[in-house]
Amino acid sequence: MQAAARAHANIALIKYWGKRDSALNLPATGSISVTLDALHSETRVCFDPGLATDQVALESGGDPDRVSTFLDRVRALAGIDTRADVRSRNNFPTGAGLASSASGFAALALAACRAAGIDPSPAELSALARQGSGSAARSLYGGFVEMQRGRDDRTGADAHAVPLLAAPEWPLAVVVAIIDTGTKAIGSTEGMTRTAASSPFFDAWVSGAEADLTAMRTAIEARDFERVGELTEHSCLKMHATMLGARPGLIYWQPATLAVWQTLADLRAGGLAVYGTIDAGPQVKALCHAGDGDDLAMALSAIPGVRGVRISGLGPDAHLIADPWA
Ligand code: DP6
Repeated sequence: MQAAARAHANIALIKYWGKRDSALNLPATGSISVTLDALHSETRVCFDPGLATDQVALESGGDPDRVSTFLDRVRALAGIDTRADVRSRNNFPTGAGLASSASGFAALALAACRAAGIDPSPAELSALARQGSGSAARSLYGGFVEMQRGRDDRTGADAHAVPLLAAPEWPLAVVVAIIDTGTKAIGSTEGMTRTAASSPFFDAWVSGAEADLTAMRTAIEARDFERVGELTEHSCLKMHATMLGARPGLIYWQPATLAVWQTLADLRAGGLAVYGTIDAGPQVKALCHAGDGDDLAMALSAIPGVRGVRISGLGPDAHLIADPWA
């Protein structure tokens, strides 16, 4: 009745921003991401008949009630009502636009299913993780990953991720420029609900997604780095433009965010192949060839307002591990 798992964070290149159903957490659009080797969550779940309530210790922060709600889904699948002891930690700041809910719920889904004695297929596990957090569906896989929007609005069974390209097949790096590690004011869930309800640009955001996904899939298949980068920046800026149109508008950027973005354009003009993306927080994530990661990290860490950098290669699938707290 105990298992532990590690799942890696992921960064969307074609963004998910908006739901078509909040009960099942069905995305309004598909999305495409890369999984990061250097950023992970580790989670241990132990179902214990002696417990009257779930005991949830999130060492890096997070919402214990959201974990308990997720465990209810696993209990329903397994046909048990045993409470669990859950312990989890991240090796990076939680809740600061570094996709901690993605790696967190992916690791929780894998560990909880194993601990509950059920063995869902990869697609079922990914769809389950989606109900914890949409981006978590993608963190079950390594390398390049596509989250399918799906068509089944009744069960959401086909709204799960699929692997596109494993990490070793295209050695790229992501440099994260950390600008502010404080917890963001408006979380993704609330931010996307507000955007869908009030931004006049939301319909255009949704209707443009299919073309962006198709173009990105083709670019990844062709290993066309410039095209991947251009599509990545386009999806990012279009998502933020859609958020800016919400009422009240959502501004996740800080002055240093824009300074980093401008530096990426300057580096590109100087011949370095690098493209950026930004999520629901001030951090900038820059995609480059694996061999350029160190130079890029040096350049970004010199920008005033950048508090630190993390270099990461592309990471593996989520996997079971030995108990990290044993
Ligand atoms: C900007 O997956 O955190 O990072 O499904 O409500 O938990 P919920 O949202 P979440 O949103 C991620 C938003 C994003 C873009 C992305 O990762 O695709």
